[in-house]
Amino acid sequence: MNVLSDIIETNNLCQKWRNNGDSIAFVPTMGCLHEGHLSLIKKAQSLAEHVVVSIFVNPLQFNDTDDLLNYPRTLEEDFNKLSDYSVDLVFTPEVKRFYPEGENDVAKIELGGITTILEGAQRPGHFDGVATVVKRLFDIIQPNVAVFGEKDFQQLMVIKQLVAKFLLGTKIVGMPTYRESDGLALSSRNIRLSENERQKAPEIFRQMESIKTAIQAGSVDLAGLEQAASENLSKAGFIPEYVAIREAETLLPPKTTTTDRVVLVAAKLGQIRLIDNLRL
Ligand code: PAJ
Repeated sequence: MNVLSDIIETNNLCQKWRNNGDSIAFVPTMGCLHEGHLSLIKKAQSLAEHVVVSIFVNPLQFNDTDDLLNYPRTLEEDFNKLSDYSVDLVFTPEVKRFYPEGENDVAKIELGGITTILEGAQRPGHFDGVATVVKRLFDIIQPNVAVFGEKDFQQLMVIKQLVAKFLLGTKIVGMPTYRESDGLALSSRNIRLSENERQKAPEIFRQMESIKTAIQAGSVDLAGLEQAASENLSKAGFIPEYVAIREAETLLPPKTTTTDRVVLVAAKLGQIRLIDNLRL
C-alpha cells in the first residue's frame, strides 16, 4: 500500500498506471473510516485495476469552525483498516500544498442550483467547498471511476453535475447507505454521540420508514407527512432542520407525476448534526 501526501508523486504514480493501460477507481474520504467507507472501497476494487483512497479533511467545506476543529482524525487507525484491503494508494495531502493560494483565497467552484437548497441552504458554501476539492482531487488522480455514498445523497447529485459541467471523464457510481442494525446510518460523526444520544439517533430512520410506509399505503399528503415526522423528531429530543420529500434527481419538490422520490432529513441531536435519506 503506497501512502503519499505529495501531489506530484501521486499524479505521477496514477499517470504510470494509466500509461500501462490500467484503470483507476477512486474513493474520496475525510478519514475516520467505518464500514460505510469500506463498502465503497470494496465496490471500487470490483471496478478497476487500481484503487486510490484519499483522506483529506477539506477545510473549504466546513462552514462551522468548531465542526472542522472537532472533526475526528484517526489516521493511524485508518491506515490499519486500509491495509486489510488491497488499496494501491492512500493519498493524504496537506492543506497548505492542496490550496497553495491559501484556503481563504481559493476561487471556489459555484454550481448554483442544487447546491443552494436543503444542505446548501443550511450550510452556505458547503457544496462549493465539496465541488472544489473533488475537482482538484480528480485533476490529480484522473480516475476512470469514483465511488460515492448515497448517505450524502445531495452530495452525490452535486458531483454528477460537477462531472457533467466540466466534461470530466470520470464515471460516478453511487452505493447504498450502510446502516447499524437499528437503522442508524454510519457516519464519522457518530462517535461523538453520547450513549443517550446514540440510543435516540435511529429515530431518524424510523421516521423516514414511516413516511415510506404511509406513501406505499397511498398517502398523497406529502407536506403533512413531512410535518408529522419533524414533530416526532422534536418530541424525541432532536432539533430538526428539514424533513423534505423531493424528486430524487433534481431534489426539487415532486410533481404529481414523479415516482422517483427521496425523503431527506437533517436534525441536530445535542451538538451533533445528523443527515440521512431514504428512497421512497
Ligand atoms: P466522508 O464523509 O468521509 O465520506 C466519504 C464517502 O463515504 C462519501 O461518498 C460518503 O457518502 C460515503 N459514506 C459515508 N457514510 C456512509 C454510509 N453509512 N454508507 C455508505 N457510504 C457512506 O463525503 C465526504 O467525506 C466529503 O464530502 C468528500 C466527498 C470526501 C469531499 O471532501
